[in-house]
Amino acid sequence: MSAVKLSWMALTVAVLVTSVSALNILLTNDDSWASANVRATYSALKSDGHDVILVGPAVQQSGKGGTVVFPTVNITAPGGEFGSIPVGAPFFGKAVDDPNIFYFNGTPAATALFALDVVIPQFWDNKTINLVVSGPNEGQNNGPFLYTLSGTIGAAYASIERGVPAIALSAGNSTHRSFTTNTGQADDPANIAGRLSANLVAALASGFDGVSRLLPLGVGLGVNFPIFGPGSNCSAPPFTLTRMTGGATIDKVSINATTGFPQFADFIAPGLNTVHSGSPILPGETPISAGCQTSVSVFSVDYDAPTELAEPVQLHLMPLFGKTQLTAQT
Ligand SMILES: *[C@@H]1O[C@H](CO)[C@@H](O)[C@H](O)[C@H]1NC(C)=O
Ligand SMILES: *[C@@H]1O[C@H](CO)[C@@H](O)[C@H](O)[C@H]1NC(C)=O
Ligand SMILES: *[C@@H]1O[C@H](CO)[C@@H](O)[C@H](O)[C@H]1NC(C)=O
Ligand SMILES: *[C@@H]1O[C@H](CO)[C@@H](O)[C@H](O)[C@H]1NC(C)=O
Ligand SMILES: *[C@@H]1O[C@H](CO)[C@@H](O)[C@H](O)[C@H]1NC(C)=O
Repeated sequence: MSAVKLSWMALTVAVLVTSVSALNILLTNDDSWASANVRATYSALKSDGHDVILVGPAVQQSGKGGTVVFPTVNITAPGGEFGSIPVGAPFFGKAVDDPNIFYFNGTPAATALFALDVVIPQFWDNKTINLVVSGPNEGQNNGPFLYTLSGTIGAAYASIERGVPAIALSAGNSTHRSFTTNTGQADDPANIAGRLSANLVAALASGFDGVSRLLPLGVGLGVNFPIFGPGSNCSAPPFTLTRMTGGATIDKVSINATTGFPQFADFIAPGLNTVHSGSPILPGETPISAGCQTSVSVFSVDYDAPTELAEPVQLHLMPLFGKTQLTAQT
């Protein structure tokens, strides 16, 4: 192939990437506003032309799920994550070098709600948020057990419950690190995660007219990146459609004979691997993201069981309601 043809192709690719519809994005996470992954994603989304506000927890808030805890005091010892905020600073504030980067001293779900209700109306011209992006987490969040447990996913489903489309991103590399340790190289795992996150957002934003919803009401995306970085041979994992069930794990607990304390191991249990709503033709996100692939699952926050599963249970309980058949309740 000639050099001219090659450079024309490079130009086409560049145009495809930069002609993505610009979105107003609220970026958040659970590993703190100072984590390498969230800052690399902020840069990648901005370089794609999106208007991005980052509001992240002041300190590490992993494993908080959808718990909502608001601050009642200002920043206490030892200060913000990685020394990012001094002790005694207000419970919420802004980066000195970027007016669109904020911290909030609450759980991830509380941070997303505070951002939507206070930060954006008061400090970001009350812009309409087209998408909430949460993560990428430092470590994967596969399957229903991690869905409820993860603060990264908690911030996403809290936003979805409010009616704002959201995606939760989780990366295989679980090293907890500050944005100040970013090497600036394209192969830094934080930069790979940031670029892949922006590519996913670009696909979602494709054809966006500026007004319609990017995802249906009550629906979000759960994305798991595999392990990549200097210790791995995976650097360009393809995106693969998945479901949350299938090879998913929950803790199995035992007593450690040496320490006498509980310990847990991953257990592929039946309750979180039965397909009720997901498409059975899709593979599970857990085995897919264990290889060199990125899983993309579409979830809903309608936790009611589907009618065909619920009905026999409801009918069995009818005597409790003084009735013999299912009717519209008032
Ligand atoms: C929290 O910080 C704000 C801003 O510096 C200050 O006005 C306020 O008195 C502080 N509140 C407490 C309880 O320390
Ligand atoms: C922000 O916009 C919303 C929706 O347009 C509106 O209901 C709300 O009053 C506005 N808030 C402020 C502080 O301007
Ligand atoms: C995970 O990221 C850390 C920090 O960049 C890096 O030192 C480590 O090698 C990475 N792990 C793998 C398996 O690449
Ligand atoms: C990459 O590493 C994995 C796990 O270490 C291995 O199974 C796989 O064969 C390697 N792939 C290539 C292309 O080297
Ligand atoms: C029990 O705990 C010790 C100390 O944490 C650990 O080294 C050991 O592997 C554990 N035993 C088992 C059977 O997992």
